Amino acid sequence: MERSKPPVEAAGLHAELEQKVAALEEERERRGRLDGELVRAERVAAVGMLATGLAHEVNNPLACLLASLEVLDQHLDGSAEARSILADALDGARRVRDVVRQLGSFSPKADPGSPSVFDLRETIEAVARMARPTIRLRGRLSLQLPDSELLVSGWSGQLAQALLNLMLNATHALATDGRGRITVRAVEQGGGVEVEVHDDGCGIPAELLARVFEPGFSTKPAGEATGLGLPMAADVARAHGGTIEIESVVGAGTTVRLRLPSARAARTPAPPRMSSTPPARPRVLLVDDEPALLRALGRVLGREMDVTTADASAAISLLTASEATFDLVITDFVMPGIGGEELYRIVCGARPDLAGRIVLCSGAHHDHHLQRLADEEHLLVLAKPFGIAEVRRAMVELAERGRPARTG
Ligand SMILES: Nc1ncnc2c1ncn2[C@@H]1O[C@H](COP(=O)(O)OP(=O)(O)OP(=O)(O)O)[C@@H](O)[C@H]1O
Ligand SMILES: [Mg+2]
Repeated sequence: MERSKPPVEAAGLHAELEQKVAALEEERERRGRLDGELVRAERVAAVGMLATGLAHEVNNPLACLLASLEVLDQHLDGSAEARSILADALDGARRVRDVVRQLGSFSPKADPGSPSVFDLRETIEAVARMARPTIRLRGRLSLQLPDSELLVSGWSGQLAQALLNLMLNATHALATDGRGRITVRAVEQGGGVEVEVHDDGCGIPAELLARVFEPGFSTKPAGEATGLGLPMAADVARAHGGTIEIESVVGAGTTVRLRLPSARAARTPAPPRMSSTPPARPRVLLVDDEPALLRALGRVLGREMDVTTADASAAISLLTASEATFDLVITDFVMPGIGGEELYRIVCGARPDLAGRIVLCSGAHHDHHLQRLADEEHLLVLAKPFGIAEVRRAMVELAERGRPARTG
């Protein structure tokens, strides 16, 4: 009788062993996924650091260059050739500005700051410019965008990363004969903004389609992909109150559809109150530690505004004088000695009526310090390089807020 026991025990042991092997396998997979996530996060962080450093170094001289070229453009009555040379120079400088801005999309998104309202068409166009050289190796990219703004509230850098992944996924699906087509279509409908990335590539078999949003799922060679592109895109969609879906037919192609709430209603400007419309020729104080930048911006803005320029300590003397009146004070945030925050605090103490007219500006992409101050104090932020259009917009926004003077 005793003899019949061992097979039962063996079966139990076997089942237990199988369970342990399965658990180990699961753990191994989980670690693999985490490793992948780490590699991706490190890569993004490294690019982000590089982008932030670069933006900081490049944006000041670039702001100076752009402002000077814009003034020249307004003054020059030279030959047609001289005008065309200047137009090329301006075009080149604006492209450098766009490239530096695009790099900003890759800055770390650990602390994305507060959401802002932006035109998604610009994000799509910027991402398309980045992806085009890669896409061109396999096919063509066409954009179908509406003529009017696609306003969305959120973080354009995050959406840029998500859209870049969708366009690269589409590219990888194309055959290598150069005849593939990728179409990015965006429309506003039913209170939402819909972006579709369509390719006529290989498509995804039904049994794999169910898995493409699993973190770590990838059919690409190990080491070349992390399988985090789509899960990340889904995450970004969720963070924006939106959704993402994918449709695919093997041999015919794939469509990924991103739906986001429109921010158009939020942007509808409040009717401006008479007392708060910007003055015809506003008095503007520009504060920066770079004299060349002050000169160049002073010239550009000077066409429409009464501009005073100063470094931080001269600005404080001007701002704390009892008779000082400015409609707008634009101050650099990072300056040697007295920085933008200190300047703001001093003005809050001495001239609370002027503190609400302070706008911060910075050349860095994601200055968390600046963002925190701006959030806490409800201050406007201008990204360098800025021109007369951005300053005009800031004036209007301040006026619309009709911000009451601070007390205390
Ligand atoms: N447009 C598409 N056409 C065909 N297959 C696709 C398409 N988009 C995604 N896939 C499939 O979904 C998988 C997961 O995509 P996902 O973007 O999450 O990761 P990945 O592209 O493999 O890696 P990574 O984005 O990190 O480079 C891909 O490996 C591919 O098999
Ligand atoms: Mg991908």
